[in-house]
Amino acid sequence: MDQQQIMALEAAHTSGVYPKRPLAIVRGQGARVWDADGNEYIDCAGGQGAANLGHAHPAIVAAISQQASQLITCPEIFYNDRRAELLAALTDAAPAGLTRAFLCNSGAEAVEAAIKFARLSTGRIGITAAMRGFHGRTLGALSATWTKAYREPFEPLVPGFVHVPYNDLAALDANVCDDTAAVILEVIQGEGGVHPADPTFLAGAQALCRERGAMLIVDEIQTGYGRTGRLFASEHYGIEPDLLTVAKSMAGGLPMGACLIGPRVGALTPMSHGSTFGGNPLACAAALATLEVMRTEDLPGRAAWLGAHLLARLRTFNSPLIREVRGLGLIVGIDLRVKVTPILQKLQALGVLALPAGSTVLRLLPPLVIEEGDLDRVVDAIGTALGT
Ligand SMILES: Cc1ncc(COP(=O)(O)O)c(C=O)c1O
Repeated sequence: MDQQQIMALEAAHTSGVYPKRPLAIVRGQGARVWDADGNEYIDCAGGQGAANLGHAHPAIVAAISQQASQLITCPEIFYNDRRAELLAALTDAAPAGLTRAFLCNSGAEAVEAAIKFARLSTGRIGITAAMRGFHGRTLGALSATWTKAYREPFEPLVPGFVHVPYNDLAALDANVCDDTAAVILEVIQGEGGVHPADPTFLAGAQALCRERGAMLIVDEIQTGYGRTGRLFASEHYGIEPDLLTVAKSMAGGLPMGACLIGPRVGALTPMSHGSTFGGNPLACAAALATLEVMRTEDLPGRAAWLGAHLLARLRTFNSPLIREVRGLGLIVGIDLRVKVTPILQKLQALGVLALPAGSTVLRLLPPLVIEEGDLDRVVDAIGTALGT
């Protein structure tokens, strides 16, 4: 099928919930993807954060192929060798205290698990989340998400959620009480426009939670797996979350999520939660290989220096269209004074795929394996698209 045929067939049957771009991507390698007509793009959409290892990484291809012929599915009522290895490796790599993990299949599911575990362990209902925060689209995760347009069509949502301004410790202080089960925060608000947390805000949130018996849920679904220059962005801040959610790149692009669990959560009772596909050996094999690649190729270190280079170059632009350039490692937002969609279209025509974050922020989430030369081409294309 050529590009037009693919788009026509998919458009005829797709749900309609996605704002689709007129592009059918059929192949990827490293930080590059190709459309059905053979055009090549540098992929700074990066699978919306699921392609930190790049496309078709040989270690992931090998791990999936090998495990597929061994055992694909195995519910968690049984033990499994790959799952056992992954749980050990994941909790070993995680911030201190997170020695257990619930495995699932997506980011929203990881957030659902964190909310349920917080309520279960505290016996409380309240969840304090942040304005501009994004935690997913299922009803629990959506209740923690801020954007009105995502929430309103589905109200009433889950009761007990309040939102406070991000980076406002006084507001958080006023909204954590003796019925608060958890505070849920991103380390860098990704969908909300690439806003990093102030160190005092996260440290303060942790102190408030400990003092008042609430759990601190840190959502690293977008910032985890090397993206910010450390394996987990929490490491930059020296915080020890009670529950930490990951997904996106954790299995090299295969669907997988996890909720890591700290000691303050206590024991979780059998039957209190579950998932048919959670911890399936195929995803576990890919996730094990992902952690190994993160380590052997030092992808967090690569994200740190490439990200510093990218931010430095973008900050040399003297364009009236740019309000601010923000980011850490290879999560970068260019806050514009104009709508981002036409700029994304211009970039696509120049062979670069990127993301929005809200209506005016251009977001870059390139694979961490991207070559420096490709990143420089991206910067040049952004300069052209912005007319600098
Ligand atoms: C911080 C954060 N949390 C949760 C989610 C939801 O993840 P998923 O789309 O896998 O459900 C996302 C997705 O973009 C995210 O960025």
